[in-house]
Amino acid sequence: MAEHIHPIFDQLLQREEREERLQQRSKVLWLTGLSGSGKSTVAKYLERLLFTEGYLPQVLDGDNIRFGINSNLSFSPEDRLENIRRIAEISKLYLHSGIICINSFISPSREMRDLARSIVGAEDFIEIYINAPIEVCEARDVKGLYQKARAGLIKGFTGIDDPYEAPENPNIEIRTDQMTIEASAMRIMEHLRPLISLG
Ligand code: PPS
Repeated sequence: MAEHIHPIFDQLLQREEREERLQQRSKVLWLTGLSGSGKSTVAKYLERLLFTEGYLPQVLDGDNIRFGINSNLSFSPEDRLENIRRIAEISKLYLHSGIICINSFISPSREMRDLARSIVGAEDFIEIYINAPIEVCEARDVKGLYQKARAGLIKGFTGIDDPYEAPENPNIEIRTDQMTIEASAMRIMEHLRPLISLG
């Protein structure tokens, strides 16, 4: 499919030059977890925290991306994989522009997250498991989607009638049923600071 395509890399402004300008090392933070686990809330809080400390972050979020660039994709396994593939490619662009990319997607299978890691590059990919038991997520039911899934109005809902494979070896695991959002974001920051600071 990518026949007769000749990407040019050598004359581009280098990632290191952009990082130098922004005074940060760019990374891709990949937040995975069930719907209602707190991914988006942690991502947004972390984005604000990073910005306040002088870093330049950008959140990419499931609902927003699916409203725009991925609006043609469903929640079938194939489309979820394509969703993640495109997001990983977008993240790579952010990475090379020197920006810290915070991704908040269910990304329910190891295959999907492995694909994302291989596209981004393992050295720049930080997997963060936003973990809350399904009962807690369902009790929160912020968007009313669990209720709809239980009623059979949404088919293939992650955790109900579609699988979620928990990460086996995430870089960071956050239990949002045991920690506040503020404490969760602070924990991620502690892990992150040495990785994103220059010098
Ligand atoms: S995935 O699996 O990574 O492709 O999903 P993602 O792009 O993160 O989108 C998840 C949000 O879509 C809404 N939604 C569903 N989630 C799970 N399963 C089904 N069938 C589904 N249908 C719609 C839901 O609002 C998810 O948002 P979050 O923020 O996770 O609650």
